[in-house]
Order: sequence, then structure tokens, then C-alpha cells
Amino acid sequence: MTQPPGTQAAVDPRELAGRRALVTGATRGLGAAIAARLEAAGARVVTSARHAADGPVAGTFVQADVSTADGVRRLAEAALDHLGGVDVLVDNAGAQTRVPDGVLALTDEDWLNDLSGSLLSAVRLDRALLPGMFARGHGSVIHIGSNAARWPQPAAVAYAAAKAALHAYSKGLANEAAPHGVRVNVVSPGVIETSGLTQRLAALAAEHGGDLDAARAEFARTFAIPLGRPGTPEDIAETVAFLASDRARYTTGTVQVVDGGLLSTL
Ligand SMILES: NC(=O)c1ccc[n+]([C@@H]2O[C@H](COP(=O)([O-])OP(=O)(O)OC[C@H]3O[C@@H](n4cnc5c(N)ncnc54)[C@H](OP(=O)(O)O)[C@@H]3O)[C@@H](O)[C@H]2O)c1
Repeated sequence: MTQPPGTQAAVDPRELAGRRALVTGATRGLGAAIAARLEAAGARVVTSARHAADGPVAGTFVQADVSTADGVRRLAEAALDHLGGVDVLVDNAGAQTRVPDGVLALTDEDWLNDLSGSLLSAVRLDRALLPGMFARGHGSVIHIGSNAARWPQPAAVAYAAAKAALHAYSKGLANEAAPHGVRVNVVSPGVIETSGLTQRLAALAAEHGGDLDAARAEFARTFAIPLGRPGTPEDIAETVAFLASDRARYTTGTVQVVDGGLLSTL
């Protein structure tokens, strides 16, 4: 029996004590859940996004656009100023341009938007922060990839290609980082229920008597998700917290698929 969504595994509030974490794209969705989970495990956390959050979120917020070189530079400096070093880096912010008219309708601007937001954002931030991890001889880097890297959806091919590149880059980086005691892994989510999907599900539920869980189950049947529901941001945060911790001390260069069984291949 899997744990129902919304419930939490017991968190050891000391597991990440003394660790300093930076999470990008953390004012909502997966990033907000990841920041909260790392903080609950005792880490000091800096979060970032282009705009401040509507409500309270974990950590200390730095406003920065990680799709630009200047935004990454300012974020890295602010995080180092605040934390004194970064032990856990979660490159979570991504960019997805949806073009319904097919791959050939994607413009250079669309491609550059997705490559800057989903690939170069991580490359640049890693370049700024991994030398410090190497010098200290430890660190955990987690890139939030996507199942789209292996299963491109027609309306978002540039995004899928950028995530595939992120997965490949992560493997190469993991090989170089390992001798320095630094681990690099990818978490590859399937369909996760962030606010946009909740709104779609609420509309679906309204058509069927208002039962949101029934709408989730219907959605899962339609998209053939074996575990019978979309994922939650907390499902992803749990795997990120594991990879950040010493429990994952022998895990590097991997892609951890967290998708309720959605990908039909190994
Ligand atoms: N949700 C899913 O089903 C799913 C599935 C597979 C993979 N993923 C991946 O998981 C990651 C998080 O997705 P999500 O669904 O949680 O997204 P989301 O709910 O749209 O949240 C995105 C977060 O990133 C920030 N952000 C976006 N662009 C940014 C930029 N250029 N610089 C700094 N911050 C930026 C946003 O704040 P601002 O807008 O204020 O900047 C927000 O805090 C992404 O990499 C996505 O590709 C998600």
C-alpha cells in the first residue's frame, strides 16, 4: 500500500543540520516543497525566483532570473553572502515554451528560451558553486529534469530537448565531480499536481459532482499512471531530500524517475 498523497513520511529534523542549501524556482510548485522539506530536515535554505512569493515560503528569498548569466551571478553571490557556502544545490527552475503548431514552428527565440531556462540556468549556477564544494570535498547537486527528456510531448519539444541535454550534462558533471566528493543526480518527475493542474482537476471535478479525488483518478486513468494519481510536489521533495542526505552517499550520476510508474520503459 503506497502512502496517500498529502501525508508525509516522518522527517528527521537533524538529518541536514549544518547543511546550506540553495533551491531555484522555489516560490511555488516543486521548488517550494523542496525548500520546505530541506528546511524541515534542518538545512539552512536560500530560495530564488523572478518574483517574490504570494504567501509564506521556506528559506531566505533572493530575487533573480536564472535564465540569464547576470541573474545567476547575482544569485550565487547573494547565496554565498548569506550562507557562507552551498552544500546542497537544487537546480529546479525550468522554462517550457508550448507551441501547438509543431516542432518546425518553434522559433530561435523559443529554443533559446527553453535552453536558457532549463539547461544553462543549471550549467551556470553549477559553474559558480561547484568549485566551493570541490574545495570542501563534499556536496550534493540535484537537477530537476523531466520524463519529457525521454518522452517528448508534441507541443513542448524544445523543453524536452533542453531537459534531455540537462540529463546528459548531469552524467558528465557527476563523473568529474565524484573524485572531489561531490554527487550529482537528476530527479525526473512525471505529471505533478501543481496549481495549474489542480485548477484543471477542479474543473473536471465540477463536471462530475465535485469529487476532486475522483477527478484525480479519472485523470490518472486517462494518462495511464499506474499508481492512480498525479504526483504531488511533496513526492518529488522526498526524493530530493534523500539525494541531498548521506543516505544517498553512494548514489551519483543517476536519473531518479518519480512518476507513479508513468514511463512505460525502464
Ligand atoms: N510540474 C510538473 O508536472 C513537472 C514535471 C516534470 C518536470 N517538472 C520540472 O520541475 C521544475 C519545477 O516545475 P513546477 O511545475 O514546480 O513549476 P512552477 O509551479 O511553474 O514553478 C516554477 C518556479 O520557478 C520560478 N521560475 C521560473 N522561471 C524562472 C527563472 N527564469 N528564474 C528564476 N526562477 C524562475 C517561478 O517563479 P517566477 O515565475 O516568479 O520566476 C516558480 O517559483 C521545472 O524544472 C519543471 O520543468 C515539472
